[in-house]
Amino acid sequence: MKTLTVDLADRSYPIFIGQSLIDQTELFAPYIKGKQVMIVTNTTVAPLYLEQVKSALTDYAVDEVILPDGEEYKNLDTLNLIFDALLEKRHNRTTTLIALGGGVIGDMTGFAASCYQRGVDFIQVPTTLLSQVDSSVGGKTAVNHRMGKNMIGAFYQPKCVIADISVLNTLPQRELSAGIAEVVKYGLICNYEFYQWLEKNMEALASYDSAVLAMAVELSCLDKAAVVAEDEREGGIRAILNFGHTFGHAIETNQGYGVWLHGEAVAAGMVMAADMSWRLGNITQTEVHGLQSLLKRAQLPCIPPSEMTNQNFIDLMQIDKKVLDGKLRLVLLSSIGEAVVTSDFSTDTLHQTLAAGERLGL
Ligand code: NAD
Ligand code: GLY
Repeated sequence: MKTLTVDLADRSYPIFIGQSLIDQTELFAPYIKGKQVMIVTNTTVAPLYLEQVKSALTDYAVDEVILPDGEEYKNLDTLNLIFDALLEKRHNRTTTLIALGGGVIGDMTGFAASCYQRGVDFIQVPTTLLSQVDSSVGGKTAVNHRMGKNMIGAFYQPKCVIADISVLNTLPQRELSAGIAEVVKYGLICNYEFYQWLEKNMEALASYDSAVLAMAVELSCLDKAAVVAEDEREGGIRAILNFGHTFGHAIETNQGYGVWLHGEAVAAGMVMAADMSWRLGNITQTEVHGLQSLLKRAQLPCIPPSEMTNQNFIDLMQIDKKVLDGKLRLVLLSSIGEAVVTSDFSTDTLHQTLAAGERLGL
């Protein structure tokens, strides 16, 4: 097992990465201060892993709430089901919430923990590749609004993250691929060596090779932890973690939550951001094509939905959280392995990228 640390002074916490971790009492116990535990999971993950997690928690009074599965349920109504369960079972301020599932469960459980009785502890047990490499680390929690992704939420850090690589074996291929999009993101924005490693190991990664998966999770979490430690509440550098997301969130919202997976939308969004970086002279067109073929090797989409118009994108991108004083800011590449947050581009260049959607296909 590897242990990494997210270094945030008195809110620092460990990330445990390894095989067969979710039934290990000693990983949970130091991070549970009271006697009550509420496991939050969903209808897909519960039959697979709930009993294993419960077997690690026999010293506690454990309750569970099993939510409907899907991005379309990541909203305030579903959040209320968590509060209902906590109140019905009389959970007090010393309770600990455990998020057992992918990013949807992690984001909702974290947000519930941030506001239940003004804040209780929570532990992340991410069960998708995407949640192990990204959403479980760094304390961003939220639910969606019909007008925009993750618009209602809080920064709230977990007490620990338990990333069990063996649970990824039951993940459908499409979900594994979606997670790979966020892995590729780290290579692009801050780690050229990692990007080169991914170019060598993509087939192994996309076919569930456990050693390669473990390495990808570790390298991704190292990069994410470093960025979060520097800028927890996204005053600056943390925005680079949203590379591809301004375009991607527009796709997710336009198509209806859950139609395009988050990682799929991010993949197409990263190609759009790379295309724009090329138009601004920062990277070569060959590098944009290289990114497209890397994503294709992971069975990810590389172009936005054909029916989305420039205006669809512009309307949705205007409510992005990076918009400042009405001005759109984008995360672009200054080179492969380095990102910059900028509003220094012309509307024409943005429109050229949006219009290029069809032509981005190889
Ligand atoms: P998800 O939570 O919807 O999980 C994907 C699917 O896999 C679901 O059907 C789930 O039930 C199923 N599943 C989970 N674990 C499984 C397993 N081990 N075996 C079989 N099936 C399993 O999606 P996701 O990709 O994990 O997360 C996407 C969400 O994360 C989005 O809402 C996105 O906005 C959010 N996100 C948040 C952050 C952050 O910093 N907080 C970062 C990136 C993404
Ligand atoms: N996934 C973006 C962030 O954590 O900041």
